[in-house]
Order: sequence, then C-alpha cells, then structure tokens
Amino acid sequence: MNFRISISPANIEFDCNEDNNILAEALTAKINLPHGCKSGNCGACKCQVTNGDVTQEDNTNMAIFSQDEIDAGYVLLCKSHAHSDVTLNLPGFSNSHPIKTLPAKISSIDKSGTTAIVMLKLPAGQKFEFSAGQYIDILYEGQNRSYSLANYATDKNELELHIRYRKGGLFSEAVWSQLTVGSIVRFKGPLGSFTLSKNDKPIVMVCTGTGLAPVKAILEQMIATNNLRPVHLIWGNFTTEDFYLTELLAKWQEKLNLRVSLCVNENPPIGYHNGLVTDLIVNEYENLMDYEVYACGNSQMIQSLYQLATTQLNLSAGNFFSDSFTPSK
Ligand code: FES
Repeated sequence: MNFRISISPANIEFDCNEDNNILAEALTAKINLPHGCKSGNCGACKCQVTNGDVTQEDNTNMAIFSQDEIDAGYVLLCKSHAHSDVTLNLPGFSNSHPIKTLPAKISSIDKSGTTAIVMLKLPAGQKFEFSAGQYIDILYEGQNRSYSLANYATDKNELELHIRYRKGGLFSEAVWSQLTVGSIVRFKGPLGSFTLSKNDKPIVMVCTGTGLAPVKAILEQMIATNNLRPVHLIWGNFTTEDFYLTELLAKWQEKLNLRVSLCVNENPPIGYHNGLVTDLIVNEYENLMDYEVYACGNSQMIQSLYQLATTQLNLSAGNFFSDSFTPSK
C-alpha cells in the first residue's frame, strides 16, 4: 500500500510503498535524503517522525539512538516503513542537488598499485552539481556499485573515482580488464550526506583504503574556500603499497592547518604508525568533546570508531559523520 511522505519544513513530498524502507523510496523518487550506509550502521539517516505511523525493522540497532531521541520519535529511515501518511522533520534539508542518471565517458584510468584513479567526463553542457564528500552509483551490467567522488566540484565537468582492485569485483574487474579511455558508463547521483559541517571545531578525519576519496574532496573544498579549521588526517591501510596519491599530502599541508598520520597493519617503515587507525586515536586523544570526527572506510572500522569515540572519548554522536562501504562482488 502507498502512503505520502512529507518533509518539513522544506515542503517536499513523495510516495512510499510500505513494503520498502522510506530511504529507498525517497532515493527512487530522486530525493536525496541524508544517508550513508543504507544498512542501519552509520546513523546518517536518523530523522524525527512528527506525524504518522512508522515501524522500524526488528534488526534495527537501537544503540544508535540516545534515550532523548527515542522519546522524540527518531528513526533510521533506511530501516523504517510507513503505514500511514507521514511527516518527517528535517530542518535545513532542501534537496539542493537533485539525483540524476547520466552517461559519462572515461577520460583517463591511472593505476597505482591496487588502486585505479578513474576520471569520468560528463556530456557537454550537462550540469551536475554535488557537494564534496558525496558519492555516485555506477550502473553496470544491471547492478549498482557505489563510489565516492574524489574531487571538489569544478567547472571541468569531470568526476574522479578511486577504485581498488577486488578479484571478482563486478566493476573493479571491468576497470582493470575491459574498460578503456572512451568507454561510456552510466551513473546515478549525487548521493549521500558525508559533507563538511559549517562550524569551526577541529576535525579528526579518519579513513581506510580508498576511503581517502571523499576526504580528498572535502580537503580540496577547504583549500578552495580558505578554510583553516585544524584537521588531523589519519589514513590506514594493510600495507604501505596500498597508499596512493601520497604526493598530495605535503601539498595539502602547505595550504591547510593539517596534520597527517599514516597507519599500516604490518611492517611499518619509519614515519608510519603500526596498527589500526583506532589504536592511534586511543594513543593520541583523551577527550573528543570539542571535536568533529569524519570517518570513511569499511563498516567494521566505522562501527569500532563510533563506539570508541562516543563511549570512551566523550564525542557527541551528532559530531560523528561517516561514510561506510562494504566490499561487493
Ligand atoms: S543508518 Fe541509515 S543510512 Fe546508515
């Protein structure tokens, strides 16, 4: 059965079938409600229901809510189903970058170790606006694969993707063995809400693997807007060979108030930290009360970091922003 979802105060509406979660129906209607993982892990789709009958799926992780939020009617939209017309309270939401489906031509593929930097050229005259930190879904052979946009919006009409090689991975195998400069791919976006807040708190920016991609976009945005908020970038990989674009780190440090820590799980050379990104945070921070934490990487790291930061290091849950990815074939 279909119901009407109203977003207040933006006065945006869409239809929602009760068999599907509210977030999925919003994205189908090309309304980019705030979200990240789409699987109930990151809390980015948390939203207050002010009117209507909404239930959450049995496996919803209620630890993601404070008691005040539960009392005020907050739900995870990626885990919620509407059983009547519903009103959602989303102050500040405007759907400013509507979701589009577009073709793009691969203009370059640069491979560095296990990572390919893929540039997509948009059709001439086609406007595609996005915020630094958002992602797109590549539509390939009838399936979707999500990749963060690694560049800050420019007038070049190009999108930058960082794609790690994954044996048997649908799109990563294609990038390594089938697609070439000139190949056409289709994508849907922009999606997600992993974007820079407007306040001036110092930032702990944590990423693993190609989680560097949205971080790069956000740092480029900060350079372009002369934003000198203190940033501590903590980037982890299994081995030193998994790091890429490291030549950018010193350039960013020249233009930003940026400190960089690199973590590897095994055999760290001089200058690298041994262990997980969360180990480094435990060693370096006693209290994150006055910070914002941005995290992009595998969902296990995101969950560990969220638990650590909010339960042991006094970080407010509202100051934790994440974009988690799950490797898919
Ligand atoms: S918890 Fe819903 S998008 Fe992550």
